[in-house]
Amino acid sequence: MKYFLDTANIEYIKYAIDYFPIEGITTNPTIIAKENREFVDLIKEIREVIGEALLLHIQVVSNKAEDMAEEGMKIVEKFGKNTCIKIPVTKEGLKAIKILNSKEIKVTATAIFTAQQALMAAKAGATYVAPYVNRIDNLSSDGCSVVGNIVKQFKEYNLKTNVIAASFKNVQQVHSVANLGAHAATVNSELFEKIFAHPFTDASVEQFEEDWKKVYGDKVIKDMI
Ligand code: G3P
Repeated sequence: MKYFLDTANIEYIKYAIDYFPIEGITTNPTIIAKENREFVDLIKEIREVIGEALLLHIQVVSNKAEDMAEEGMKIVEKFGKNTCIKIPVTKEGLKAIKILNSKEIKVTATAIFTAQQALMAAKAGATYVAPYVNRIDNLSSDGCSVVGNIVKQFKEYNLKTNVIAASFKNVQQVHSVANLGAHAATVNSELFEKIFAHPFTDASVEQFEEDWKKVYGDKVIKDMI
């Protein structure tokens, strides 16, 4: 499963790219607006920080298919081919996905709440679909099951669209979509710090240090070889 970072915060992206195995950045209008910066400058800076190789997701803000498609084309022209255009899976969105697919532009169908929406977006040519796990959970439904059903249906119907599960609020949701075969998960900065951390790992490291120091003091291997 690929890890994406769901943020537009430059400082966090710089730090996270250094430490973690991240394969791209996802944003949406809410995430961009939170930074309260000039749009083009912000996206350019994100692209500079992550380089050309990582996938950058930018969502359109228009509502009509033709406008969404035009916006998507302009975004790719400005910020590079390795930019994935996020399109909400509305009726107009589906039409926009078809248009962008015909121009070989990568699209993530977003704001997905049902497996049927994902299936239709995949048939329209989406590269990724983004089911909103926690928002589905909050509707007294089961976001992880929806992800599992989408993964199963894509396999069943031989669709090459990938699932990028999104909208997580706890670690268990991320573990679950990994178990269910999601191709990617996009996680916000607060949760990212928690998905790998474990107090027993820290305790094990402390014990190693203590045992080592009893025999070798403060010496470390790089200075002993
Ligand atoms: O990537 C989609 C995601 O940003 C939605 O997450 O936390 O606003 O439900 P959230």
